[in-house]
Amino acid sequence: MKDEILNCIKSRRSIRKFKREQIDASQLDALLEAATWAPSGGNNQSWLFVAVRNGDMLARINERLRQSFLAWTPDDDYPAKRKAVINAQNENVSYFHHAPTLIIAANVPDYQNAMADCATALQNIFLAATAMGLGSCWINQLRWLTNDAPLRDLLAEAGLPKDRVICGSAAVGYPDHAPPAPKRKEGVVVIFR
Ligand SMILES: Cc1cc2nc3c(=O)[nH]c(=O)nc-3n(C[C@H](O)[C@H](O)[C@H](O)COP(=O)(O)O)c2cc1C
Repeated sequence: MKDEILNCIKSRRSIRKFKREQIDASQLDALLEAATWAPSGGNNQSWLFVAVRNGDMLARINERLRQSFLAWTPDDDYPAKRKAVINAQNENVSYFHHAPTLIIAANVPDYQNAMADCATALQNIFLAATAMGLGSCWINQLRWLTNDAPLRDLLAEAGLPKDRVICGSAAVGYPDHAPPAPKRKEGVVVIFR
């Protein structure tokens, strides 16, 4: 059991190429259940997970992201933010790598553990997906546009209330590539004996 869990942790990869095939409803249920079993600060469990598996809605969200990024100025130098703006010039960009399912993790506003709680839940989703032979990837673009009114109008249609803060999202589907594991950086662990 210990080895199985460690192997699952180590074999999880960020997948950026997905098969078109949709995941089963039962698989999605299992991923969402895993999310809700994550730890949360003060056991708040104030998160909300909105899963979108409707192709038309996914395409609309992607196009809305693209349009909003065309008019967006990043608030810092994070390279992926600049890339999101550059990629918006490409009409065929898919910010969630054409995954058939997107799970948005949101939380209540003005809660100091909002991001941490959603991150623990997203990692549960990633690991559960790996254990089920599915691929997954953290998608940050929705978080950067959490205050973008046209995006929030659209996401409200998909079931995400406008008063929630988007903390991250997970693209999920069947993997269509097997990326190599990035090397681990040295010197990131200290043990005081
Ligand atoms: C907070 C966070 C944000 C990320 N945002 C994105 C993203 O927007 N798009 C993407 O393709 N990958 C994203 N990733 C995936 C990372 O690029 C990936 O975890 C890293 O390159 C290591 O690869 P691995 O997950 O296969 O170990 C994100 C990961 C984290 C933890």
